[in-house]
Amino acid sequence: MADFVNSPTPEYHRKQLVHILQMAYSGELAAALAYAGHWRAAWKRSERQDIHRIELDEWHHRASLLKMLHELEAKPVAWRDLMMRSVGSIIFLACFFSGWYMPMYFAGRLEKANIHEYEEAAFHARSLGLSQYEEIIKVFAQKEIEHEQYFFNMIANHWLTPLMKSVFHYGPES
Ligand SMILES: [Fe+2]
Ligand SMILES: [Fe+2]
Repeated sequence: MADFVNSPTPEYHRKQLVHILQMAYSGELAAALAYAGHWRAAWKRSERQDIHRIELDEWHHRASLLKMLHELEAKPVAWRDLMMRSVGSIIFLACFFSGWYMPMYFAGRLEKANIHEYEEAAFHARSLGLSQYEEIIKVFAQKEIEHEQYFFNMIANHWLTPLMKSVFHYGPES
């Protein structure tokens, strides 16, 4: 952080932007795979449709991030992508055994982190004068806000949420 305050050079912003885009690229893979399991494991038709739509958003984000990375002459981080593929695949399967609540809760918590990640990326893009990227990334952040709202509304009034919040620090203000 001190580095950021003292020397916000273009090179610094570029490095940060590429790093966030690389992490987000692999994070979207884990999210998409997790949602692929989540909607298939859901019982309610409306939930299956909603979560499937969210899954498609994540695939779209991932494809756009890859394009951006190529344009920035950068590449995804292979080990990170492999790791997130494993994480996503494990969650895919876990959704069939974990019941209704847990996938909803952790999806909301994960989406919240994604919003911050994209806001930070948009800041670095703006600092580099890459306004077209800034706009695209802001649209992504807005989409993640919608995703987070969806899952938040699912769990907000559930009896387990106060307990989960005390452990995982995500849930409605009391
Ligand atoms: Fe996403
Ligand atoms: Fe999302």
